[in-house]
Amino acid sequence: MDINSIKNQIDLDLENINSSKELEELRIKYLGRKGLIAELFDQMRSAKEEERPALGKALNSLKIEVSQKLDEKSKNLSQSTPSQAESIDITCDGILPKLGKQHILNQTIQEICGIFKTIGFEVVNGPEIETEFNNFTGLNIALEHPSRDTFDTFYLGKSPSQRGQKLLLRSHTSPVQIRVMKSRKPPLAVVVPGKVYRPDATDASHSFMFHQVEGFMVDETIRFSDLKGTLELFAKSVFGEDIKMRFRPHYFPFTEPSAEVDISCIICKGEGCSVCGRKGWLEVLGAGMIHPNVFKNVGYPAGRYTGFAFGMGIERIAMLKYGIEDIRLFFENDLRFLSQF
Ligand code: PHE
Repeated sequence: MDINSIKNQIDLDLENINSSKELEELRIKYLGRKGLIAELFDQMRSAKEEERPALGKALNSLKIEVSQKLDEKSKNLSQSTPSQAESIDITCDGILPKLGKQHILNQTIQEICGIFKTIGFEVVNGPEIETEFNNFTGLNIALEHPSRDTFDTFYLGKSPSQRGQKLLLRSHTSPVQIRVMKSRKPPLAVVVPGKVYRPDATDASHSFMFHQVEGFMVDETIRFSDLKGTLELFAKSVFGEDIKMRFRPHYFPFTEPSAEVDISCIICKGEGCSVCGRKGWLEVLGAGMIHPNVFKNVGYPAGRYTGFAFGMGIERIAMLKYGIEDIRLFFENDLRFLSQF
């Protein structure tokens, strides 16, 4: 290429440049060590002696001209709106960050506590590490009771601060009954959601950690019918208005009388199916009237108060409500499972 065709070519080339990267390539093409202008300098050596000074001068001014044009283009590029290749299309939809949501168990806990709150219950939390007194003794669970065996409770060793008492991971939420009653006087209407621990082998219906909601009400005239009415409101709110409920006699050391509470099967409506084991009923919670020994253990005057208490497993409620067949699904944190709720 001679000087004139380079002058024409650089203008054409510059017109097609859209990015600083392309511009840099162009600079190399013209001004690089092996570029077009360097090539002309090389050829100058074979020119006639008398032509060389003029040729040299012309080549130098060509070099300056090309370099100015490149500089100018570079300025224009950084000032003007970004080219197509580099631009951000502000009319495009943005990328939405993935929003998390509440775990299905927390949703269920909130729903259940919300129901009790509408009738005046307050929500109280207790610690997961408990004393043997709060978890057992205060609740009238005798020393020889099988659940005090290390096989049914995770023991943690002795507490230096609690007068050498044994510490454990609470095996139910009932110790919060003791905590609240020890520190406050009736009237009390309290629900307690939280984690509990039992050294069970894990399978489709057992987990060494699960959740309960405890509830209790204490005052001077609380009756079994109050328990019944309260639980009926709960069952109908969670499972639907046409749900039936029944109380079966049972035994808990901290309630007398005690009952296990069933609801009519939400799948077969009581006809009998595989979910309810053809019984037509599903067990959902334990309940009863608070044992006088419990009131004694928290220092309430004998005979003054009556009250009811109940406790339910949250995983069980959620499994029944949503047709979940394996408790392990709650804790595996597979988003394909969790995002359904
Ligand atoms: N704490 C009992 C359990 O974990 C449930 C319960 C609570 C029963 C309150 C009666 C009253 O099995």
